[in-house]
Amino acid sequence: MRIYVSRDSAARAVGADAVAAALEAEIAARGLDARVIRTGSRGMVWLEPLVEVDRGAGRMAYGTATPDQAAAILDGAADSLGPTEDLDWMRRQTRLTFARCGVIDPLDLADYEAHGGLAGLRRAVAMNGQEIVNEVKTSGLRGRGGAGFPTGIKWQTVHDAPGDRKYIVCNADEGDSGTFADRMIMEGDPFCLIEGMAIAALAVGATQGYIYLRSEYPDAIAVMEEAIRLARSAGLLGPSILGSARAFDMEVRVGAGAYVCGEETSLLNSLEGKRAVVRAKPPLPALEGLFGRPTVVNNVISLATVPVILEKGAAQYAAFGLGRSRGTIPIQIAGNVARGGLFETAFGTTLGALIHDIAGGTATGRPVKAVQVGGPLGAYMSAGEFGTPFGYEEFDGAGGLIGHAGIVVFDDTADMGAMARFAMEFCAVESCGKCTPCRIGAVRGVETVDRIRRGDASAIPLLTDLCETMKDGSLCALGGFTPYPVMSALRKFPEDFGPVREAAE
Ligand code: NAI
Ligand code: SF4
Repeated sequence: MRIYVSRDSAARAVGADAVAAALEAEIAARGLDARVIRTGSRGMVWLEPLVEVDRGAGRMAYGTATPDQAAAILDGAADSLGPTEDLDWMRRQTRLTFARCGVIDPLDLADYEAHGGLAGLRRAVAMNGQEIVNEVKTSGLRGRGGAGFPTGIKWQTVHDAPGDRKYIVCNADEGDSGTFADRMIMEGDPFCLIEGMAIAALAVGATQGYIYLRSEYPDAIAVMEEAIRLARSAGLLGPSILGSARAFDMEVRVGAGAYVCGEETSLLNSLEGKRAVVRAKPPLPALEGLFGRPTVVNNVISLATVPVILEKGAAQYAAFGLGRSRGTIPIQIAGNVARGGLFETAFGTTLGALIHDIAGGTATGRPVKAVQVGGPLGAYMSAGEFGTPFGYEEFDGAGGLIGHAGIVVFDDTADMGAMARFAMEFCAVESCGKCTPCRIGAVRGVETVDRIRRGDASAIPLLTDLCETMKDGSLCALGGFTPYPVMSALRKFPEDFGPVREAAE
């Protein structure tokens, strides 16, 4: 008998370690022929600690398990949710990037390989750089960090750039509120990220990689560091990738908690040991990145998706999706929802389906008022926009952005005026200070929202002007995108800005 318990930090936070320990103690006390295997998360966070038991006929799921249920679970006497793969949340997904997450032991390389791991890298080793770049271009993969820039075109730029040394930098500074896809895959399937970075290195001719990982993710740091060590001793990294004549190695670098370090140029400054101030672009990091060398900077999910593209072929990946948004997207559902977690699906699912059918509406049972998509810089969407399908252009058309695909749900008790103030406050706190519209604008923004909320309707055009200036004049997305939550809240929920309604009447 095999028993699977997640070691993902979301599961550990609600007692998965104690459940695993109770199961192990019971197995030992009874002398059972059974083993507890710690996996990543299946993404069904509301069911954690989730225990899965395989008695030889597939995994049976036991949700929200407690240590005192250990004996009943082992006896088969506890209430089961049924086969894990048959659960609605699992059946409705298209798991490509997260196919192994929650299934394998994250630090068991043989388990990884037995579930399709390394097939993509083996194929890549037999290809030249341009062929790999072409494959990624054909897949239609776009940057999953938020901007949606075509990954293959970024790689082409680095491939074509002259340079005695090139780098692969993985942006794992996942700072968006309500997002956890990067963390989940690093904790649940770290070899997938290592494999993706190695493929990127083969594609562009890079020899060194860095994972810039936020200090708030201690479990992910520990798992990634151990996985890199194991990959090195298995010959996946080092002077010869899988016995080829090509070299690539990588290491983890830990950030110190600034949101702006997720912006690629400030991240590069931080990696270089400098203050994390945003750099002006051009030059693009693809041409002059880390230490002035051509550098691929990609988000965790972009890189972790490359192995499956190489394994199954670009055409198969591109067959999923909608319009120019190809493949799948791991959507992180959080906030006031009945069922929160990670749901990977082909682009095209509507926001309403995600909130109501998948997430089961609000946890409070009250009506959904607003949904913020794309982190703290994302627009608030109201019920009238829930028909918007998940796609880069489709969200853009609705005045929003997908960002890193985190959605945070609010019920009808939310005060959107307070949320608008929070957006400005967040920007003021996290601003790197390099450009005036953001550094000073965000502080004035807080004051202006306060004026409106105190009843000064004359401050409304001032806020609108300020947002226009921040949007057009900021150097990076932090100052440039803060107007999205502020203006969407003001336009869609004027009743939460008392005087706005009076001004409109
Ligand atoms: P951007 O549009 O300036 O650039 C996107 C990427 O494409 C960059 O890596 C850039 O260097 C690259 N690029 C652009 N033109 C290129 C070319 N011709 N050749 C090669 N590469 C090229 O967007 P930016 O500022 O990098 O990212 C903004 C996004 O970040 C926002 O949409 C926001 O959603 C997201 N974001 C994500 C966070 C997270 O936690 N994942 C946190 C904050 C923001
Ligand atoms: Fe720095 Fe803000 Fe300007 Fe970005 S917008 S460069 S975070 S001051």
